[in-house]
Amino acid sequence: AGVFTYDPGFTSTAACDSSITYIDGDLGELLYRGYPIEQLAEKSHFLEVCYLLLYGELPNAAQMVDFEGRVTRHTMLHEQIQYFFRGFRRDAHPMATMVGVVGALSSFYHDSLDIADPWQREVAAIRMIAKLPTIAAWAYKYSIGQPFVYPKNSLSYAGNFLHMCFNVPCEDYVVRPELERAMDRIMMLHADHEQNASTSTVRLAGSSGANPFACIAAGIACLWGPAHGGANQACLEMLREIGSVENIPEAIRRAKDKSDPFRLMGFGHRVYKNFDPRAKVMKESADEVLDLLGVHNNPLLQVAKELERIALEDPYFVEKKLYPNVDFYSGIILEAMGFPTSMFTPIFALSRTVGWISQWKEMIADPQQKIGRPRQLYVGPTRRDYPEVEAR
Ligand code: CMC
Repeated sequence: AGVFTYDPGFTSTAACDSSITYIDGDLGELLYRGYPIEQLAEKSHFLEVCYLLLYGELPNAAQMVDFEGRVTRHTMLHEQIQYFFRGFRRDAHPMATMVGVVGALSSFYHDSLDIADPWQREVAAIRMIAKLPTIAAWAYKYSIGQPFVYPKNSLSYAGNFLHMCFNVPCEDYVVRPELERAMDRIMMLHADHEQNASTSTVRLAGSSGANPFACIAAGIACLWGPAHGGANQACLEMLREIGSVENIPEAIRRAKDKSDPFRLMGFGHRVYKNFDPRAKVMKESADEVLDLLGVHNNPLLQVAKELERIALEDPYFVEKKLYPNVDFYSGIILEAMGFPTSMFTPIFALSRTVGWISQWKEMIADPQQKIGRPRQLYVGPTRRDYPEVEAR
């Protein structure tokens, strides 16, 4: 026995050193390798951010070309994986399909499973960044009964994802640059967020020496929950349930009522006690996309805007420092782009993959890391003797 610190939810326990992402929750600041998220969202693009997170520095032009080439080389899935998709029910949630397919990658790519080999770790990282959009898009296509669309490597990472989701063979889908840019921004803003639940899950799974595909599948499973990445879907469903601006006061009342489990989805954060800096950028993007698509009068979006306004002024939310988080606005953009709510969390997952992989690589290379093994405060019965069934 020993004396352990009781810290449910790990609100005050650091489990690792990390030099990838820095968050100041009081200031509302988020830095990737030191660079503010606002600057990256304005000037960078997703694959450059991937390079930054993975290798620690921004690439020069030649490094960027080389990296892009390495990623696009791996965007295809092994043809056999199609049959794996076809084993799922059509109405399966795309996240369920993704957990399965990503887990199954370790049965396809035997040359990237040896975590002791830096080259294999590198190939696994590139493979996952390259293949996750294809997996997410195919999970979507499968769920709506349309043929799978193969990746088109002449497009950007975000453009290719939109192409694989929205192209149909009988038409020629043209990716609108503004939507491509908005999608790229969503990806950048979700790319990493230090030791959140899914990243900690990836690290914990990886600490046992599990292969990287298995670790990322674990991260996807964790992300699915409505308190984490599932919040973007839950938020849109909540807006739909509220339905119209007149019903907002009742929703606010319920959110404040401690005897009611209802919470305003897309509000609050464990670390940010100020405006989530990602939400600020996302809000701008949402306005741009809605203007572009001319859907400002969409009733759902009107509910969202009014809910935001009221909650930001309500003393309960002000005192508890509950601000809209990234999931509040991303759902609105994705809805306007034509994605069904079930695709919101898969898009979060494919964007976060680079963060998971960067954190996993950092952990494997860190000599201080050990298998993750939390302790407990035992509160069950003391030792007792087994009674025969007649005596119970
Ligand atoms: N609506 C109403 N009350 C809330 C909300 C909310 N969305 N969030 C927190 N509170 C209240 C909570 O009841 C508690 O009140 P009290 O102190 O009186 O008991 C107080 O605020 C602190 O909340 P907490 O649950 O102790 O805080 P936490 O750090 O454990 O939870 C959270 C953070 C994000 C899980 C929570 O705010 C929440 O459930 N939000 C809604 C779901 C959501 O939007 N999640 C996405 C998070 S951002 C992206 C991501 O991580 O994927």
